[in-house]
Amino acid sequence: MEPLPIVRTVADLRSRVARWRQAGESVALVPTMGALHAGHLELVRHARRLASPGASPGTCRVVASVFVNPTQFAPHEDFDRYPRDEAGDAAKLASAGCDLMYLPDAVEMYPPGFATSIVMAGPAGGMCGVARPLMFNGVALVVTKLFGQVQPDVAVFGEKDYQQLQVVRRFTRDLDLPVRVEGMPTVREADGLALSSRNAYLTPAERHRAPELYRALQTAVAALERGSPVATVLADVRARLAAAGFERVDYVELRDASTLEPLERTGPPARLLVAAWMGRTRLIDNVAVPGFDGRDSV
Ligand code: PAF
Repeated sequence: MEPLPIVRTVADLRSRVARWRQAGESVALVPTMGALHAGHLELVRHARRLASPGASPGTCRVVASVFVNPTQFAPHEDFDRYPRDEAGDAAKLASAGCDLMYLPDAVEMYPPGFATSIVMAGPAGGMCGVARPLMFNGVALVVTKLFGQVQPDVAVFGEKDYQQLQVVRRFTRDLDLPVRVEGMPTVREADGLALSSRNAYLTPAERHRAPELYRALQTAVAALERGSPVATVLADVRARLAAAGFERVDYVELRDASTLEPLERTGPPARLLVAAWMGRTRLIDNVAVPGFDGRDSV
């Protein structure tokens, strides 16, 4: 297999992309923080399909960015211990048919004198926006920069970070960024655990218990579909997670699937989202809750 071309500067990135554009090719972007797993590689494959629907694979190029973005981590969070594996990531991206790995360092992304910030509201409110108050402003800033640097036709994000996906959709619309934002369903282990780079932090015993997060969500969706009151269902999820050894639950919430407004009853298409701590690892997950007309559960 050919080694994957790697660029580290905006200038080198732009000259590669310009050559593709001159050849009439479309460009897709998969933004990542590295430590890639099978879920990321599915994003790459999906990006290739989306950027040139119906066209031959050669007419579309996929860029994957790998950058552990310091502006989305608070000082007490896991920026320093976030897993990094440049060589492994490059090999995995090559195997998934990626065309270019963009690997800027912090100075390339935020040069001396950098003075711009983005403050997100709307879908950034609540949930991870409370537990990790810097996160979505930092995500908005770096993704806006990546969109400007790569200038892709389409960018693909995993639904595992569902709140992040809605935040990206929001600022892309708000700032008139000419990029199509696409979500891709969460890729899971056989036992249901959502793939995440942070799963590497789990001890074997924690890894064994962690799939309870997804099972609790599935049980909750079934209860909501039967008409159980939302407050009762959310309380049951918390109790079940505590029993499974999750030390702390940051949130379990039912939200409108597109605006992320909190919902106290089922009705519109919704999303059930959770974040909980297993040992030193904060895990997040979410599932769709289909919409119902005329349902009156409180
Ligand atoms: O989901 C991630 O990996 C990151 O938040 C992203 C979108 C690459 C921005 O740093």
